[in-house]
Amino acid sequence: MKFFVDTADVAEIRALNELGLVDGVTTNPSLIAKSGRDMSEAIKEICDMVEGPVSAEVTATDASGMLAEAAKLRAIADNVTIKVPLTEAGIQACKALSDDGASVNVTLCFSAAQAILAAKAGAAFISPFVGRLDDIGQDGMSLIAEICEIYGNYEFRTEVLVASVRSPLHVVDAARMGAHVATVPPGVLKQMFKHPLTDKGLAAFLADWEKTGQSIL
Ligand code: E4P
Repeated sequence: MKFFVDTADVAEIRALNELGLVDGVTTNPSLIAKSGRDMSEAIKEICDMVEGPVSAEVTATDASGMLAEAAKLRAIADNVTIKVPLTEAGIQACKALSDDGASVNVTLCFSAAQAILAAKAGAAFISPFVGRLDDIGQDGMSLIAEICEIYGNYEFRTEVLVASVRSPLHVVDAARMGAHVATVPPGVLKQMFKHPLTDKGLAAFLADWEKTGQSIL
């Protein structure tokens, strides 16, 4: 399973990249706004740091506007993935961009029917938002199971990129279902390290070691 980091915060990405945990990055207009950075500059900096795909999202709502923005974003670096929303215009842009050799991430997916459209349009990634479904009382992870089943039935090459991840449990469930990628906020990735028994066990080992009076070095 690949880990993408869901942030436009360059310092957070650098720290996680040094741990070897970053296979790619996803951004969106809200994350760019939160970073306070110029979008092109932030995307360029991230692309220089990370080898894998870096999603940069269009903000036009018509297909020709999306294609114009995509041309500018693709020129930033070879590893830019163009993110388009799951609308009719977005699917139209996805098809044109994919036919032109671009990597496209179709975002804001909330149903299996939408995921089928993205795969038919040649998307490299489909981004179902599990946390936002959970927020309205629907089971986000059931959608991941449905999409994995459907894509497997037809050997679609589109990768399932689990988005709107809110907890380590989302990541574990996604991995059990065989989703290709989870895009994880830095805070959730850090939570994945944590277990109280690890902390307790380490404290006990260190206390016992202290009693021996030994030093390894
Ligand atoms: C995915 O690419 C999105 O940027 C992201 O996962 C959305 O997450 P949120 O629902 O926490 O905003």
